[in-house]
Amino acid sequence: MNKQFRQDLFEQAKAWVLEAGEEIKNKIDDPGSIETKSNSNDLVTEMDKNTEQFFLKKIKETYPEHLLFGEEGFGDVLNDLKGTVWIVDPIDGTMNFVHQKRNFAISVGVYHDGVGEIGLIYNVMEGQLYTAIRGEGAYKNDEKLPLLNESRPLHQSILALNTTWLLPENPYVDHKGMQELVKEIRSTRSYGSAALEFALVAEGLLDGYLTMTLMPWDIAGGIIILKEVGGVVTRADGGEVDMLEKTTILACRSNIHEQIIEDYVTLKN
Ligand code: IPD
Ligand code: CA
Ligand code: CA
Ligand code: CA
Repeated sequence: MNKQFRQDLFEQAKAWVLEAGEEIKNKIDDPGSIETKSNSNDLVTEMDKNTEQFFLKKIKETYPEHLLFGEEGFGDVLNDLKGTVWIVDPIDGTMNFVHQKRNFAISVGVYHDGVGEIGLIYNVMEGQLYTAIRGEGAYKNDEKLPLLNESRPLHQSILALNTTWLLPENPYVDHKGMQELVKEIRSTRSYGSAALEFALVAEGLLDGYLTMTLMPWDIAGGIIILKEVGGVVTRADGGEVDMLEKTTILACRSNIHEQIIEDYVTLKN
C-alpha cells in the first residue's frame, strides 16, 4: 500500500470513527431497540446496526473496491483477506453500552492483502482514541505510546481474564493451569470490551489479556496497535491468529508470553 494513500486512508478512517462516536454519544440515552442474538445475554441494539451501516455507506461511497467485514453482517462475506478490508466492530462491549453507558469502543482495523495497516480503537465516552499505522508507532489521542520494554515479571503482572474460563464447556484450557496462573499473577481484571482490553495492554496498564473466544472484529484494530508498542498477540496455544475465524487470544508483553503458554495454558485435546 502506497504510504501517502495509507496516510490519507488513516485520516479518513479517524474522521469516520470520531463522527460515529459523536452520534453514539448523542444518543447514549436512546440506543433504540435492544434485541438478543445467539442467546439472551448476547445483546445487539439499533445503534450497533446503524453504526456498522454508517461505516458501510462511507466506505463504499469513497472506496468502492474496499471490503467491509463487520460483526452485524451488513458488509461483505469474505473467503480471504485479499485487497483492502475494513474489519469493523461498530460497538465492542454492547453489554456495557446498554447497562453502563460506558466502557465500550468502536474498533476498526484496515488490512491490505492480509497485513494490518491501520488500527483504531475509540473509547467513545472517555474520548480516548488509540491509533496505529504499521511501522509508525501507536498513539493515544496525540500522545505516542511508549514501547512495552519494561520486563515486569509474571508474578507482578495484571492479566485481563474473564470467567468463561471456569465453565465446564471451556474446550481449550485445563482448569488446573488457569488456577495456577491466577495464583501466580498479581491480579485479574475483566472490562467486557476486547478492544479496550487490547488498548489497555498497549498502554501498559494491563500486562496481558487471555481470552477464550473472540472474533476478527474484536481484535482487528487492537492487534495492529499492540504490535506497534512491541506487544505479542497469538492464539492461546501460541499459534498464529487467523483473521477470518473465531479464535482464542493471548495478547501481552513479550517477556511473559512464552511463560504463560508453556507453564499454564494446557490445551485439552
Ligand atoms: C464482546 C466483547 C467482550 C468479549 C466478547 C465479545 P461485543 O463483543 O468484546 O468483551 O468477551 O467475546 O463478543 O459483542 O460486545 O461486540
Ligand atoms: Ca455482539
Ligand atoms: Ca466485539
Ligand atoms: Ca460489537
